[in-house]
Parts: sequence; structure tokens; C-alpha cells
Amino acid sequence: MEITAHSHTGEAMFTMLTDGSKVEIRAIAAQDASMLQAFVRRLSARSRHFRFFSAVVELPMALLERLVNQDHRRGLALVALSEQQGNPFIIAEARCVLDEAERTAEFAVAVADEFQRRGLGIELLKTLVTYASKKGVRRLFGEILADNQPMVALARRGGFQIQTNDLDRRTVIASIVPPGSDAASE
Ligand SMILES: CC(C)(COP(=O)(O)OP(=O)(O)OC[C@H]1O[C@@H](n2cnc3c(N)ncnc32)[C@H](O)[C@@H]1OP(=O)(O)O)[C@@H](O)C(=O)NCCC(=O)NCCS
Repeated sequence: MEITAHSHTGEAMFTMLTDGSKVEIRAIAAQDASMLQAFVRRLSARSRHFRFFSAVVELPMALLERLVNQDHRRGLALVALSEQQGNPFIIAEARCVLDEAERTAEFAVAVADEFQRRGLGIELLKTLVTYASKKGVRRLFGEILADNQPMVALARRGGFQIQTNDLDRRTVIASIVPPGSDAASE
């Protein structure tokens, strides 16, 4: 799936999940605030805890605003959408925030509970790796709660290395040198 170039222009791309359902993937937009809030509310308490590291039930307004107003020069934020009776709703969110000075980027991803294990998480993660690679990122990483087995398994599946986090023992760090990055040949 080649969605990074198009997502900058707001153009939507489509992918098919392993169960055959069709999903739209596009860059997040300011008008997605209420749909993103609904997505977060629908997540199980466990998934919300794993994504936000806290017991949030819904996102505080300031955070919601920040998440839907991703500066395209500073990263990529994607949403995946399904629809029911013609009404679209968000079923996943994935982002990658660039630190251009350090040439690193941090990712986060969440898939609606009822759409998990259908290949969407790995598709989104691979898209972020491709994006990071194109941006010249030398290290793409994510902080994962140590008991978040699904995300650790997903990261491993995506080629990430998992290391303990000396700064916070509750978490582990998944990291990858994006293929094609000049750090890959060092
Ligand atoms: C982690 C998460 C994003 C995975 O998304 P997903 O769409 O279910 O993942 P995929 O279907 O693409 O899974 C790809 C592979 O990852 C591994 N994996 C994913 N979920 C797994 C689970 N629950 N148990 C074991 N392995 C798992 C498997 O190898 C899987 O391949 P398989 O289904 O062919 O065995 C999803 O569980 C989620 O959103 N969790 C809550 C939020 C969260 O933890 N975010 C991470 C914050 S950093």
C-alpha cells in the first residue's frame, strides 16, 4: 500500500483487511475531532490504557485538538475508516512525529477492538516505517507498556527490536532503523 505521498495531499487510499472488508486510509484532518473522540470512547479500557498510558475515557479537548491538527511538516497522522449505512467512522489511528534535529521519529498506533487481528495494525506500522525512511529518519521508535503483548508482538512482526527502557521500567522501547536510511549502512 502506497499511501504516504497521497496522504499529504489529503487524497484517500483504500486497503482490504484479511476478512475482506474495505477500509479507507487518509491523513487526519481538523474536522475529524468528533469522530476521533468517538473512536477513543469506543475503545476498550484496556486498549485506551495501552494507547494513552492512562485511564482516560475520552480525550481532553487540548489533546484532541493537537491530535487532529498534525503539522504535515512535523510528521504523519493517519486514520482508517469503515462505514455503516453510509456513515464513516474511525477504526484506527496511527502517527509518527518527527524530530528533524535528531533525525528520529516516534510512532503510536491504535486499532478499534472489533477490528483487531485483521492486519490493519501491521499495514499502518509499515506505512509509518516507509514514511520515516523517505524522511531520512535514522531511528523510528515507540514506547510500549511492558505488558502490552499485542503491540510488542506487532512491533516484532514489523521488524522492530524491543529493549528495556532504563528511564521507565513500566515500558519497553521498540525501535527500527528504517530500510534505506543512511544509518542502515553504518
Ligand atoms: C497493538 C495493535 C495496534 C495491533 O493491531 P492489529 O490490527 O490487531 O494487528 P494486526 O492484525 O496487524 O497483527 C499483525 C501481527 O501482530 C501480532 N499480533 C497482533 N495482535 C496480537 C495479539 N493480540 N497477540 C499476539 N500477537 C499479536 C501477530 O503476529 C499478528 O499477525 P497474525 O494475526 O497473522 O498472527 C492493537 O492490538 C491495538 O490497537 N491495541 C490497543 C492500543 C495499543 O496498544 N497501541 C499501542 C501503543 S504504542
